[in-house]
Amino acid sequence: MGTSTPDLGGPDSVISARGVSKRFLIYHQRATSLKERLVQTKRVTHEDFWALRDVDLEIGTGQTVGLIGANGSGKSTLLKLLAGILEPTRGRVKVLGRIASLLELGAGFNGELSGRDNIYLNASILGLSRREIERNFDEIVAFSGLEQFIDNQIKHYSSGQYVRLGFAIAVHVNPDILLVDEVLAVGDEAFQKKCLDKIAEFQARGCTILFVTHALDLIPRLCTRAVVLDHGRVLHDGDPLEATDKLRGLLGTAADQTGGAGTAASSLRISGARLYDPASAAQKGEFRAGEPMGIEIDVTAGAEPPAAASVRLAITGPVDVPMWVMDTEPQRFEAGTTSTIRFTVKELPPLQGIYAFAVALRDPARGVAYDARRFGEAFRAVGADDRGLIDVAWTADRGKFEEERNRAKPTTSRGTAGRGPSSSTSTSSRGTGSGRRPRR
Ligand SMILES: Nc1ncnc2c1ncn2[C@@H]1O[C@H](COP(=O)(O)OP(=O)(O)OP(=O)(O)O)[C@@H](O)[C@H]1O
Ligand SMILES: [Mg+2]
Repeated sequence: MGTSTPDLGGPDSVISARGVSKRFLIYHQRATSLKERLVQTKRVTHEDFWALRDVDLEIGTGQTVGLIGANGSGKSTLLKLLAGILEPTRGRVKVLGRIASLLELGAGFNGELSGRDNIYLNASILGLSRREIERNFDEIVAFSGLEQFIDNQIKHYSSGQYVRLGFAIAVHVNPDILLVDEVLAVGDEAFQKKCLDKIAEFQARGCTILFVTHALDLIPRLCTRAVVLDHGRVLHDGDPLEATDKLRGLLGTAADQTGGAGTAASSLRISGARLYDPASAAQKGEFRAGEPMGIEIDVTAGAEPPAAASVRLAITGPVDVPMWVMDTEPQRFEAGTTSTIRFTVKELPPLQGIYAFAVALRDPARGVAYDARRFGEAFRAVGADDRGLIDVAWTADRGKFEEERNRAKPTTSRGTAGRGPSSSTSTSSRGTGSGRRPRR
C-alpha cells in the first residue's frame, strides 16, 4: 500500500502537511437574564479560532516522531487532520499507507456494544477483513488482557480498559503508520511496558510512528525527532532533547527558567519515579488500603544545581486535586549526580480507583519549582468496584422515624449517613462506599 512517490514532501515522506491551518468557530452566548433566555431566541455569536497555523511537516518512512506541546496547542487537531477525521481549512495533508490511530479515549468505539463487537467494528474501520480479524481476535484480546470483560458493554470499561482495547486493536492491524495521542499514560505500568515493547517492535519493522505525549522523558528515549507545537505553530522540529527543553521552558517547568535549550541540563531535574512494595522492594502499581506504599523519585543535578531543594510529592485524584502532600527537608544535590529519594506511605488510606502523583523540586525558601512533573494514572488503589473514591462507613435504615423525631429535642441536628435502598423493609444495612467514581 502507498508505494507511489508522494507529490508532496521529499521522496521518502509518508506523512506530509504543507501550510496546514485549521480554524474552528468558537461560540459565545451572550449572558442574558433568565426571562430573556426563556422568551428570546438565543443570541449566539462566534469568533474564529485558529488551532493550527501554517504547519509544515514531512515525516519520512520509518521515523518515530514525538509531538509535544502545552494543553490546547493543537496536537490532537494535527493528528485528526492526518488521520482524515478533520479537513484542513488551508493547506494540504497527505498520508501514504495503512494508518492505525489511537486518538481519543474510546474514539471509534461504540459504547453500547461489547468489547468483542467493538474489536470487529474497529478493526474493520482500520481496514481488516473479517477473516483477518478472526485470525487475530484471540491475540488482540490476549494483548488487551481483557478476557474477562470482553463481552461487557464497553461503556462500562474503565479509562485504562478502553485504551488497552484500542491499543491492542491498533497494533494488530499491521499499520504502516501509527498515530498515538497521549494514551499510554492511562494504562498501568505493566501495560505501558507492553505498549513500549510493541512500539519498539514496530520501529524495528520500519513502521512510521507519530505520537503525542505529555510524558516528556519518553521523547528522547523513543524518538529520533520531536516537534513542539505552541499555539498552533511549529516552534521546534528536530532534536528530541532540545524539544523537551524548549517545551519545559515554555511550560515554566524547565530547571532553568530562561528556557533556552541546554540550560536546563545545568540545574535540577526529576529524572525518574517508581512505585514499589516497601516489604519486598519489588515494583508495583496496585496497592490495597492499609498496605504500605513506597515511591522513589530520582533527582539528577546538572553542572550548577541550586544550593538546596526540597522534594514535594503530591498524591492526586483524577482531577488533580491533591489527596495528600509530602515534603522532604531541604536536600543538597551534588553536581553531576543522580540521587534517589524514598517516600514511604505507612498505610494506604481506604481509597479506590486510579491515582496520579505530582513531584516538584522546590526552592525551600521561596517555594518556586526547579522542576515539576506529573505522573498520570500512576497506581491503582484496590477495593470493591463501583464504590466511589473512598470507603466511608455508612448505614441505611428504613422504618417509621416520625415518633423518634418528635421525641428528640428540637436543638439536636445530628446527620445520618447514607440513604437506604427504598425497596428494603425495616431492615438495616451497612457498608462502605459512596458515590460512583465520575467517568472522565
Ligand atoms: N471542534 C472544535 N471546535 C472548537 N475548538 C476546538 C475544536 N477542537 C479543538 N479545538 C480547540 O483547538 C485548540 C487545540 O486543541 P487540541 O485538542 O488540538 O489541543 P492539544 O494540543 O491536543 O491539547 P491537550 O494537550 O490538552 O490534549 C484548543 O484550544 C481547543 O479548544
Ligand atoms: Mg490532545
